[in-house]
Amino acid sequence: MKKTQIITTVYEYDSIAELSKEDQLLVNEAKDAAHRSYAPYSKFNVGAALLLENGEIVQGNNQENSAYPSGLCAERVAVFYANAKYPDVPVKAIAITSRTNGSFLDAPVPPCGACRQVLLETENRYNHPIKVILCGEKKIQIIDNIKQLMPLYFDKDMLNE
Ligand code: THU
Repeated sequence: MKKTQIITTVYEYDSIAELSKEDQLLVNEAKDAAHRSYAPYSKFNVGAALLLENGEIVQGNNQENSAYPSGLCAERVAVFYANAKYPDVPVKAIAITSRTNGSFLDAPVPPCGACRQVLLETENRYNHPIKVILCGEKKIQIIDNIKQLMPLYFDKDMLNE
């Protein structure tokens, strides 16, 4: 038996002002997107913003449905739109914010498992790490890439084994 430890490095900040100007801009775009989310059922508004290699910023927000599973998370709305509009352009970073009861959450909210899987596909597709900025009002967490969020991942290499 061999014991292996998998380590994820998380950079933590107390306020948005501590982030680089580029990261602050992306966070503000994510917040802006959260205001337009369609979440009448959960009343949990998520906003995401992607920075692409060509400098474009693509926003997404959660889109709910009365048939609950038909809705989609903010992160996947943003990634699928970016991949649809700019299929040849790598994604460099994603910022994620969440709002409920009229204000942004103090704590950062990490992406769900399905969104991590989709982000991983995009990271691998362009062979470019995607920086993750999880933005709460009182705590911001930055992770260097998606594989650190989901180290034991399934990808296309398993299909050929
Ligand atoms: N949601 C996201 O948009 N992203 C996540 O990573 C987690 C959850 C949305 C889905 C649903 O509209 C609401 O938040 C409550 O789960």
